[in-house]
Amino acid sequence: MGSIERERILRYRPERSRIRFICARGILKQLLGSYAGLNPQDIRFDYGPLGKPYLKADVDMPIQFNATHTRNEALYAFCCGAELGVDIEFTSRSVNHEQLARKKLTLEECQFYDSLSEERRRKFILSLWTRKEAYGKARGVGIRYPLNAANLIGTEGLNNAIVTDQRGVTWEIVQLSPKEGITACVVTEGEGWRFRCFRLGE
Ligand SMILES: CC(C)(COP(=O)(O)OP(=O)(O)OC[C@H]1O[C@@H](n2cnc3c(N)ncnc32)[C@H](O)[C@@H]1OP(=O)(O)O)[C@@H](O)C(=O)NCCC(=O)NCCS
Repeated sequence: MGSIERERILRYRPERSRIRFICARGILKQLLGSYAGLNPQDIRFDYGPLGKPYLKADVDMPIQFNATHTRNEALYAFCCGAELGVDIEFTSRSVNHEQLARKKLTLEECQFYDSLSEERRRKFILSLWTRKEAYGKARGVGIRYPLNAANLIGTEGLNNAIVTDQRGVTWEIVQLSPKEGITACVVTEGEGWRFRCFRLGE
């Protein structure tokens, strides 16, 4: 375990959060270990300027990953040679969707939101939020970017989409429903990725 991980474990309160962090890190290291052919205990991370974790540079394997967790659910994504980001949300989460829409969506996203029934708006916002967060995480900035300037909906709303950022880099957005009541998104640099999804023990 690295010193950053040790410090984080000590900082977590309440204990439930600490245990969740330890479990999530443990699972991440097991999975990374199996993909990279490493002993999970030997896995160390480097961090981007805004905290995005990467497999330590001395590992001769271009494997990239990203992780997200909420309550007792976690989603991990892995690929070779491209940046990626993931996010999950419970669709039952209570949010002020009207305020979020007006503040954080682009004009086009807002127009789509306005075309939906009241009932579908909250779910749309939560799914779109996973897009916004996964896109930011793929780019290493989290939600520290102008969310209302990045148009992330597809031609039919939440269908899979390809977007190009200001630097001309393309990003593939894939929306997932990994489980009843959960919406998720994976954003990967480039396009044409083939996805394989696995569910770990219930
Ligand atoms: C990245 C961010 C969106 C995560 O928010 P969250 O509610 O904890 O969301 P998630 O559960 O979806 O993601 C957590 C995981 O994202 C990854 N992560 C952390 N920072 C990241 C970043 N800048 N980019 C991509 N992924 C990141 C980690 O694997 C983390 O897992 P861990 O907490 O077990 O280490 C949020 O922290 C953020 O916007 N950060 C921006 C930068 C910032 O403020 N950094 C402060 C330290 S410099």
